[in-house]
Amino acid sequence: MPYRLHTLLNQNRDWAARVESERPGFFTSLLAQQAPQYLWIGCADSRVPANEILGLLPGDVFVHRNVANVVVHSDMNALSVMQFAIDQLQVHHVMVVGHYGCGGVRAALLGLRVGVVDNWIRHVQDVRKKHRAWLDTLPGETEKLQALCELNVLEQALNVCETTVVQDAWARQQTVVVHGWVYGLHNGLLEDLEMTVRSAEEVEPAYERALAALKQRLGQPA
Ligand code: CO
Repeated sequence: MPYRLHTLLNQNRDWAARVESERPGFFTSLLAQQAPQYLWIGCADSRVPANEILGLLPGDVFVHRNVANVVVHSDMNALSVMQFAIDQLQVHHVMVVGHYGCGGVRAALLGLRVGVVDNWIRHVQDVRKKHRAWLDTLPGETEKLQALCELNVLEQALNVCETTVVQDAWARQQTVVVHGWVYGLHNGLLEDLEMTVRSAEEVEPAYERALAALKQRLGQPA
């Protein structure tokens, strides 16, 4: 829905007044420091806003978003966010959050040409290629898209686990738990894909377990 810009600024004033009246001193209390417990790595899609979905206020969740919630080993942007969140803010939980009906994942699935983003989406095509044999057993585009959205979450969560940032945190016994979640645009609900990793040793088994469960749930009965 298009708004005039002054309407947005007015809405902002109303929102700030409402938050301050419900929690007097809220904004000034955030001045000293931020101490979020969570790092959300999600899709840039406007329908998947981290704070609103989690019911959290400013200060509660550190957020990194890009097209199709991709974590690339050499992406200095994502790595910088992760290092700051984990080393400085000491977040305990990192959640990679995909969503069903993701346009980026769909473009990867269908090999669509969109623009510069095609080069970014290439990383999701790598996920597709890795799981192609199984994806090809699914009946239609809807099923394949749902599956690739979930597979992409597992693979990107795996990438998070393999970063030096997370590996170093685990090596010094810091509590960092990596999760893979997927969000339903149609119902507003988050689902845990049960890839929960607390240590370097757990990475492979957690990934394999979550992948097997995903295939069991989405695959065709024999
Ligand atoms: Co998306």
